[in-house]
Amino acid sequence: MSKQITVKTIRKMKQDGEKIVSLTAYDASFARIIDEQGVDIVLIGDSLGMVMQGHDSTVPVTVDDIVYHSKSVAPQCRRALVMADLPFMSYTSPDQAIGNAARLMQEGLAQIVKLEGGEAQLDTVRHMTRHGVPVCAHLGLTPQTVHKLGGYRVQGRDQAVAKQMLSDALALQDAGADALVLECVPVALAEKITQELEIPTIGIGAGRVCDGQVLVLQDMIGISSLAPRFTADFLAEGRTIQEAIAAYVSAVRNESFPSDEQCFF
Ligand code: KIV
Repeated sequence: MSKQITVKTIRKMKQDGEKIVSLTAYDASFARIIDEQGVDIVLIGDSLGMVMQGHDSTVPVTVDDIVYHSKSVAPQCRRALVMADLPFMSYTSPDQAIGNAARLMQEGLAQIVKLEGGEAQLDTVRHMTRHGVPVCAHLGLTPQTVHKLGGYRVQGRDQAVAKQMLSDALALQDAGADALVLECVPVALAEKITQELEIPTIGIGAGRVCDGQVLVLQDMIGISSLAPRFTADFLAEGRTIQEAIAAYVSAVRNESFPSDEQCFF
């Protein structure tokens, strides 16, 4: 078994130009296979609200839901870093955030927590990281705010929004964030943010220029009802689940995924 991945490992991978592979998991069986196939970060994402619970957004997901799924996933991850999402309205203040992060880590056995947002989350990120909670930030399309954004759309095409996103990314890093997810962001902006940051960027619909890639498992095996444009069905061509995950891992590492058709410009 290779060594357990930590936040230090993923920073080193960025420095060494080694791509980071991430995938969501919500149950023990998939978590075990995903870990065995060499995925570096397993995310218990609040996307479970859509792919496991059948909602049309991540908004209804609770801390109890994430803890429940994380408890099944984490013990299977012998190598991968276990990341869990803080769901909608579970981090409206630094104290609420750290209390819920403690639940994800102590009950759900997560090793890093993820939250959405920029400037508004700086105090929270600072508070958590100062108390030893590793944090991954999430900018661009932030699904928890879909009702405010008015739909699932590419973010950062507008110059003012792009400028704000870059400044948020730098401020989140200064506040102690260990990684940054960039979702549905034009490639040029994702590239600029990735070059400016010392912490790794993990893209979803943000191009090969990011330091790593993340996908929702159900999109990656082609069983989502509405697969987004930036994903691919790795289970096609008669592969087994194990082969599909292995194909995704190598496609990220050899930079054949995402292709230009799966990016926004
Ligand atoms: O909840 C999730 O699965 C996520 C990924 C889409 C990054 O946040």
